[in-house]
Amino acid sequence: MLPRSAFRRLPMPPPAPPSRHAIRLRVNGTPHELEVESWTALLDLLRDHLDLTGTKKGCDHGQCGACTVLVDGVRVLSCLSLAVMHDGREVTTVEGLAHGDQLHPLQEAFMQHDAFQCGYCTPGQLCSAVGLASEGHAKSLDDVRELMSGNLCRCGAYAQIAQAVAQVVLGPGPHASEVARSAWIAGTTVNARGARAGEEPA
Ligand code: FES
Ligand code: FES
Repeated sequence: MLPRSAFRRLPMPPPAPPSRHAIRLRVNGTPHELEVESWTALLDLLRDHLDLTGTKKGCDHGQCGACTVLVDGVRVLSCLSLAVMHDGREVTTVEGLAHGDQLHPLQEAFMQHDAFQCGYCTPGQLCSAVGLASEGHAKSLDDVRELMSGNLCRCGAYAQIAQAVAQVVLGPGPHASEVARSAWIAGTTVNARGARAGEEPA
């Protein structure tokens, strides 16, 4: 058996520098030239590099929709999307929806319908709804509910959110009469007419 001293410690190679990539993004109309690591998520780029903290990190696993932003007008879960994949793209976050003091019609509708409580999911809900509106697939309140189903709301403001989105996407119409029914079906304690769960809506 060789003595310990026979083994020379080999010098370790220096750690490789993290691979960084230069990318260009337009975010809410402002051009940015950035250097990012290949593993940087779009969500972290927005929040940590550009200080756009309106976009929220909920689950960080693609399951809650809190991180939804628009890339070239298409809704994207920014926690699951690498920043380098979006080189040259136009990103819109909740901070970019209003024009100056003029709120986006969906923001107005959310306020009008009281479509939030804590507000944590709201930026993602709004961006998702903007994407839904331009997709053109929603033809009914049920479609709106289905197409917004990737955006969770822990406060349970679903009935109001669906109503606000429907007002903008489908136009003012018969959705109001469906609010009581949807609240009823969702099992909320009191429907829009004040009836308690377990009773037939008047
Ligand atoms: S934080 Fe991205 S889906 Fe939940
Ligand atoms: S308003 Fe609180 S999570 Fe949706």
